[in-house]
Amino acid sequence: MQGVARNFFTLAIVYALCGMALGLHMSISQDHSQMPVHAHTMVAGWLMSAVFAFFYHLFPVARDKMLAKVHFWLTAVSGIGLLVGLFFLLGGNAAIEPVVAISSMGFYAAMFLFAFIALPTVWKS
Ligand code: HEM
Ligand code: HEM
Repeated sequence: MQGVARNFFTLAIVYALCGMALGLHMSISQDHSQMPVHAHTMVAGWLMSAVFAFFYHLFPVARDKMLAKVHFWLTAVSGIGLLVGLFFLLGGNAAIEPVVAISSMGFYAAMFLFAFIALPTVWKS
């Protein structure tokens, strides 16, 4: 695995470790108030980043494009902003809501960019 594929795989592992630690904390404390953060860290973080990693591993043509790097950084920055922001929002810090809103839109834009990169790649191959 190389380049953007390896970056996404590393990001996926970091999400899995953080999300599962939060899941264990929720279980032990019996306080499930951070459940949306745990759920999104696991599925939108670990699972989606792993799918992106294996996509770029299977299609080196897409991996080597400049747009793939933009896709990685937009996904990483907006995803972390979304999850960390949501953690504090659910903790009672309402002032952080704009960060969560902007990050959500960034995360959607990153998925849109992935559609733009991935669909032509799979249809051409
Ligand atoms: C150390 C392992 C894990 C622990 C201790 C754990 C713990 C929890 C807990 C306590 C909840 C809240 C349940 C509720 O309030 O109804 C939850 C929900 C959830 N977990 Fe985990 N979890 C773990 C691993 C995972 C993994 C590996 C995934 C996915 C890859 C995952 C995905 C989810 C999802 C999607 C929800 C939300 C379910 C719903 O909408 O009701 N979790 N987890
Ligand atoms: C733009 C990004 C996203 C936004 C703004 C968003 C927003 C939301 C909202 C508002 C809920 C309901 C939470 C509740 O009722 O407590 C939810 C639930 C959920 N979302 Fe997302 N979502 C996003 C991306 C994703 C992605 C990419 C996935 C999966 C790959 C996903 C998986 C889930 C799951 C499993 C639940 C149910 C667990 C829960 O209640 O937290 N979401 N999401």
